[in-house]
Amino acid sequence: MTASLADLQTLERDHVVPSYARLPVAFVRGSGTRLWDAEGIEYLDFLAGITVSSVGHCHPAVVAAISEQAARLMHVGNLFYTEPPMRLAQRLSQRSLGGKVFLANSGTEAVEAALKLARKRRPGGGFVSVHRAFHGRSYGALSATPQEAKQAPFAPLVPGFAAVAPDADALAAAVDESTAAVLLEPVQGEGGIHVLEDDLLHAAREACDRTGAALIFDEIQCGLGRTGSLWAYEQTGVRPDAMTLAKPLGAGLPIGALVTSPELADVLQPGDHGSTFAGGPVAAAAALAVLDVIDDPALLERVNELGARLTEGLATLPGVREVRGRGLMLAIEIDDAPELVRRALLEQRLVLNATGPTTVRFLPPLIVSAAEVEEGLRRLRALIC
Ligand SMILES: Cc1ncc(COP(=O)(O)O)c(C=O)c1O
Repeated sequence: MTASLADLQTLERDHVVPSYARLPVAFVRGSGTRLWDAEGIEYLDFLAGITVSSVGHCHPAVVAAISEQAARLMHVGNLFYTEPPMRLAQRLSQRSLGGKVFLANSGTEAVEAALKLARKRRPGGGFVSVHRAFHGRSYGALSATPQEAKQAPFAPLVPGFAAVAPDADALAAAVDESTAAVLLEPVQGEGGIHVLEDDLLHAAREACDRTGAALIFDEIQCGLGRTGSLWAYEQTGVRPDAMTLAKPLGAGLPIGALVTSPELADVLQPGDHGSTFAGGPVAAAAALAVLDVIDDPALLERVNELGARLTEGLATLPGVREVRGRGLMLAIEIDDAPELVRRALLEQRLVLNATGPTTVRFLPPLIVSAAEVEEGLRRLRALIC
């Protein structure tokens, strides 16, 4: 395909529902931490498709797994067995909560599955999330996403959802015997990279134990190695009853997962939930290859080391008021973040993202090298100084 950026902008203007604000670059190729646009200009990617490309663009093992499975069998649906989704469920469960897995097509669908499971377990029960949370755009997930701008145009939302400040006492007070589940991101992503305090997570665990509500962690953005452990919950001392995954799991193919503890494993029964494409063999084969790359102690150790170095480097940049996050899930507070992101892309060929007017988010591929971390910092310094 050889369309220019201008061609694509015309197509978008005339034919595409304008639900996204895109930056003016058209990418045509990717490899590892690099992207190339239609003019052949190379970019350093410190966003990784908001963690989707955590193993880097077009990782050869993932490409091989997809190609091999696509050439063999692409779809039969969930009326029959195929091997990759069964193996993937086994692997996710054995490496985390030890229960069972429902495969979905996206993050929001993994969240919907979690909400339905919790509601079935406690009929009529309510849900509690915290301010700044983001759990997705479908009606259930959106109802658990207490952001006025995202919710207001679509009211009325699903009843039974409450949101409280990310504070241990507020959360404990909001949970009672009528609560089906508490839903938390251990590190909030879309809300601007905020690590939830361990005492909040412990309070949530205690409240759920006290009342019989389910504690669900949304690890769609912070899971799968991003914070320097395979799962973000491992660094918190709190084990959830269920966890949602998506983004990096398929390295670009659409796949999400709900992973349960043994206690919740059989709540959903035949006919309760399903989806045509979910657990398809090609996406599942990609996910197995992704796990081979990310579930590696050496890679996770490097994520911690390089995260520490990036944090240190970002803190020395002029105008940076705060650096926060964990592992390679970082953000800075700085004036006019959207303009900085635009200039980084167009002047320094560095791909970043602003989550708000003063927050720039850094989510490089987890296979980034030490030299590339320095290169990213150099490009930022050139922009800011
Ligand atoms: C924590 C979290 N949950 C859920 C979602 C929704 O995932 P998806 O966009 O795949 O529906 C996102 C997406 O950004 C997310 O970051």
